[in-house]
Amino acid sequence: MELMGIIKGRRAVRKFADKEIPRENLVKILEAAIWAPSGSNTQSWEFILVTEKENIEKIKLISPGLFGNPKALVIVCINTERAKKGGREGIEMAKMDIAMASQNMMLMAHSLSIGSCPIVSFNKVALKELLDIPDSIDPKLILIFGYPEKWPRAPGRRPLKEVVHIEKFGEHIEE
Ligand SMILES: Cc1cc2nc3c(=O)[nH]c(=O)nc-3n(C[C@H](O)[C@H](O)[C@H](O)COP(=O)(O)O)c2cc1C
Repeated sequence: MELMGIIKGRRAVRKFADKEIPRENLVKILEAAIWAPSGSNTQSWEFILVTEKENIEKIKLISPGLFGNPKALVIVCINTERAKKGGREGIEMAKMDIAMASQNMMLMAHSLSIGSCPIVSFNKVALKELLDIPDSIDPKLILIFGYPEKWPRAPGRRPLKEVVHIEKFGEHIEE
């Protein structure tokens, strides 16, 4: 699949088929994460892979935004100790870094026909307790993965001519 096809074809998938994801594909997805750019190359991220069904079920109980039956979760965290190396803006940069790593993972998943969805709606305190996450590690996002039952239709996008400004704000691109 060419890159634009992967970018446009990725969807937030919330319903999954009862089919396991091979370990090597999960490793490819995680490898895509660590090749994302990061501010000053601090790589202030940690990723927790969860594939045991009973662990996924426990996480679902504390995550109101997590529906369906994903086969794997990646908990995307900021390592706040490393982020401090980025100075005053370290934590802000780390948020951008994990967003880029997350998109890498979702695009890699899509290229392997695996669906994904980012989930922010979860109880952070309960998750930290459940997964033994130390104080310095801040879980920000859960990515869910599985083979889609079917690919959802694409929700609309604001058009280029509305969101792109040429040279100065308010001058729009011709289409
Ligand atoms: C930061 C972020 C948080 C999100 N949180 C949730 C969530 O908690 N639950 C959920 O079902 N979808 C969540 N989504 C998925 C969005 O609803 C979805 O990406 C959006 O509707 C656009 O659809 P698309 O990804 O298929 O293009 C989240 C997406 C992002 C980027």
